[in-house]
Amino acid sequence: MTGTKLSAIRADITTLAVDAIVNAANSSLLGGGGVDSAIHRAAGPELLHECRLLGGCKTGDAKLTNGYRLPARFIIHTVGPVWRGGGYGEADLLPSCYRRCLEVALSNGLRTVAFPAISTGIYGFPKQPAASIAVASVRAVCRQSDGLETVVFCCFSNDDLLLYNAAINEGDTAISESV
Ligand code: AR6
Repeated sequence: MTGTKLSAIRADITTLAVDAIVNAANSSLLGGGGVDSAIHRAAGPELLHECRLLGGCKTGDAKLTNGYRLPARFIIHTVGPVWRGGGYGEADLLPSCYRRCLEVALSNGLRTVAFPAISTGIYGFPKQPAASIAVASVRAVCRQSDGLETVVFCCFSNDDLLLYNAAINEGDTAISESV
């Protein structure tokens, strides 16, 4: 295990002064509801101009833009799977979102990254498995790279914060027990 610090906080992700915040976007990358709408509102109209040049994004992939008026320097836009009952590759596509976002961060030298709970709002992915997937996927990348300093799971509700803290602590226990 590398020295990356994983933490969960309850906050509005648009207020975080990290190298990059992650946006839970849709494949057009042209804005929507939820956290996507909050990020576009806070970043300002220049963000939409840059997004128009990107040609969209596939589910499970990620693309980088500037952060404009946000305290975060950059935004990593990813497209989570729509939950359709679990039989449509959802459990493979959600880990891919976390992995690709961190690959984009690492390839751009970004060391502090904050994630929202991708797919768990409008896209309907069940929150508990999504939290476990998020933490496990981030840990898998951190095991292979020491380029990341801090990864924050930015929760919008207290229930989400409890889920993420449990997922982080379970992982810690599993690791210390295996040593
Ligand atoms: N800060 C942190 N988390 C937030 C914020 C915020 N300001 N606002 C919402 N959340 P969602 P999805 C949480 O619906 O499920 C959009 O229309 C929210 O409580 O934003 O991936 C896109 O354009 C939930 O826990 O994203 C797509 O069409 C989490 O962010 C679609 O929604 C994700 O909820 C994507 O749906």
